[in-house]
Amino acid sequence: MAVRVIEVEEFDLVVFGASGDLANRKLLPALYHRDQDGQLPENARIICSARRDYSDDDYRDYALKALKEHVKDLDDADLSRFLKRLRYVKIDVASGAGFEDLKTVLDEREDVIRAFYLAVGPDLFGTICENLGRIGVVSDKARVVMEKPIGKDGASAQALNDTVGAVFKEDQIFRIDHYLGKETVQNLMALRFANALFEPLWNAAHIDHVQITVAESLGVGGRAGYYDTAGALRDMVQNHMLQLLCLVAMEPPESMNADSVRDEKLKVLKALAPIGAQNFDKLTVRGQYRAGASAGGAVPGYLEELGNDESRTETFVALKAEIANWRWAGVPFYLRTGKRLAQRVSEIVVHFRPIPHSIFGAEAGSITANTLIIRLQPDEGVQMQVMIKDPGPGGMRLRQVPLDMSFAEEFKVRNPDAYERLIMDVIRGNQTLFMRRDEVDAAWAWIDPILTAWGNSKETPKGYTAGTWGPSASIALVERDGRTWSEENSN
Ligand code: BG6
Repeated sequence: MAVRVIEVEEFDLVVFGASGDLANRKLLPALYHRDQDGQLPENARIICSARRDYSDDDYRDYALKALKEHVKDLDDADLSRFLKRLRYVKIDVASGAGFEDLKTVLDEREDVIRAFYLAVGPDLFGTICENLGRIGVVSDKARVVMEKPIGKDGASAQALNDTVGAVFKEDQIFRIDHYLGKETVQNLMALRFANALFEPLWNAAHIDHVQITVAESLGVGGRAGYYDTAGALRDMVQNHMLQLLCLVAMEPPESMNADSVRDEKLKVLKALAPIGAQNFDKLTVRGQYRAGASAGGAVPGYLEELGNDESRTETFVALKAEIANWRWAGVPFYLRTGKRLAQRVSEIVVHFRPIPHSIFGAEAGSITANTLIIRLQPDEGVQMQVMIKDPGPGGMRLRQVPLDMSFAEEFKVRNPDAYERLIMDVIRGNQTLFMRRDEVDAAWAWIDPILTAWGNSKETPKGYTAGTWGPSASIALVERDGRTWSEENSN
C-alpha cells in the first residue's frame, strides 16, 4: 500500500535536550522517517540544542550514531539529506547562555513555522520559555511542545502552565501524550465513529465493564531517579491511561476538530467518580516489584535498582474507576499498569453483557459474553470474541472464536511511531491529539486525592515478584465484583 503524505509548510524545529534519551530514541528516528517519506519540505531545519560543546558536524556524528542504533535499514541518500538539515546551538538553559546564538540562527529566516520542542525535564520548561520570550523569537507562527510529566500534582501543573502560558497562547501549546499518537488509539475513534455496529451498544445497557491494561516487562532501569519521584499513578495513569479511558468513554464529538474532541474528553474526566480517603482502600491497589525473573533471566527488585530500601513508590497500580453519567453509570473501568509484569501488552477490552436468555440446552456448553479487544501493542489490531457453532455433526455445541484483524498482517506498511505523527501535527498546527490545559487540570483533580490518601495511609505498596501480573490484591479487586482480568493477558 502506498504511503500517503500530507505536505507541511517550511519550518524550523528547535529541539532542547537534543543529546537526551528522548531525542535519541524517538525524535531523531521519527524525523528521519518523515524525511524519508518525503514529508519534510526542502528547507526544513532541525536545530538541536544541548549543553555539550559541539559543532554542527559533531552533532551530526552524534545523530548518526543514534539513528544507526534505532532505525532499521538506513538509506545512504536519505541519511545524508537528513543530516544536512541538522544544526547545533550550545545552550546552557540554567544560565541563559546561548539563547542569543539561537536567535541568530532563527533570524536567518523569519516567516516560517517555529516549533520549540522541550525534550528536557519539566523544571526547565519555564526558564526556556521565558528566555524564548526575552530574545523575541516567539512569532505568531511559533509553537511549543511539552513532554510529560506536566507537574507532579494539580498545583504544580497549574504553575507550570501559567509560566508557559505567559509566553505562548494556548493554541500554540502542544502537550504531548504519545499514547494519543499510537495507530490503534486513533483506530479506536475510527472503530467507534466510522461504524454503525458499535455505537448503539456502547453504553451501560450493553457493556458490563471495560478493562484497560498497559503492562510492561521492563523495570525502571536507568530512569530510577525520575521514576522514584513519580510512580505509576503519575507516570502512566494521570496521562496515558486516562486518555485511553476518555477515548473509550467520550460522547461522539461533533467533528475531529481539536476542541470538539477535547471538549468531550474533558466531560469524561469531570464525570469520574472521586476516589480518596473514603474509598481508596477498596478501589485502588499499589504494588512494587521484588526480585524475580523476566525474559528467562533473574532481575533485581525495584529497591535494589534504586539503591534505597525505604522507597514507597509504586511500580504497579490497579484501580476501579466509575464514570458518573447516563451512558456509563454502574459500568466499572478497571485500569492496571505496571513495570516488570509478565509480558509487554497494552490493550483495551470491552466486555459486553451476557445474552439475556439462552435457547441452547446444557449440552451446547456455556455461552461466554462477547468481548472486543483493542490491542495497542505489540501486534496492533482489533479482535471480537464471538460464539459460533462447533463445525461438523454432533449436535449444537457452541464455542468462542476470535474474529481477528491484525493490522500488521492486513496492511503491509511500516507502522509509524507515535512521534512521527505527533511532530508533524505540531508543524501543521493540529491540536486534536494533544492535551488542552483544562484536561490536564481535570486529570490531576481526580488523581490528587488518590495521591493524598496513599500518602496518609500507613500501608506500603504490596510486593510482587518481577515477571508476574502484579500483587494478588489486583486480582482480588476484580474478583470481588465477580469478574476476572482478561485471560488474554493473564495466561
Ligand atoms: C512513558 C513513561 O510515558 O511511557 C514510561 O514515562 C513508559 O515509564 C512509557 O515506559 C511507555 O510507552 P510505550 O510507548 O513504550 O508503551
